[in-house]
Amino acid sequence: MKEIKAIIQPFMLSKVEEALCKIPDFPGMTITKVQGFGSEKCKKGVPHRPVEDIVDYVPKVKLEIIVNDDMLDIVVDTIQRHAHTGNKGDGKIFIYDVRDAIRIMTGERGETAV
Ligand SMILES: Nc1ncnc2c1ncn2[C@@H]1O[C@H](COP(=O)(O)OP(=O)(O)OP(=O)(O)O)[C@@H](O)[C@H]1O
Ligand SMILES: [Mg+2]
Repeated sequence: MKEIKAIIQPFMLSKVEEALCKIPDFPGMTITKVQGFGSEKCKKGVPHRPVEDIVDYVPKVKLEIIVNDDMLDIVVDTIQRHAHTGNKGDGKIFIYDVRDAIRIMTGERGETAV
């Protein structure tokens, strides 16, 4: 099992979701509004400001998707193609190993729980 964590432009979310839902047996995803910055910002220099001031960061959307290994490539490829504008700030996709999963309703574990 793998976790796919993708940080994308918020205005690309509906296009990405529509494409993901066309994948047979797509298991679901968690979506969070996040803020951050990419590699360009540090090159410009970091302005001094109070730590609670987060207005300067760029709004993004984070997708978290756990999949069985056989679905990894199609999900990553779908996100990459449908979140792509070709501009800076399009985002990133990170992939992690997942140790286990548990479906709360049934107690199933592992691949069948995903
Ligand atoms: N290495 C990273 N670790 C954690 N979050 C990251 C990382 N790189 C990017 N992000 C997150 O992804 C968002 C979008 O990053 P962005 O696509 O601008 O990256 P970049 O490195 O600047 O590449 P690009 O040149 O394509 O803009 C950032 O606002 C930040 O939230
Ligand atoms: Mg950037």
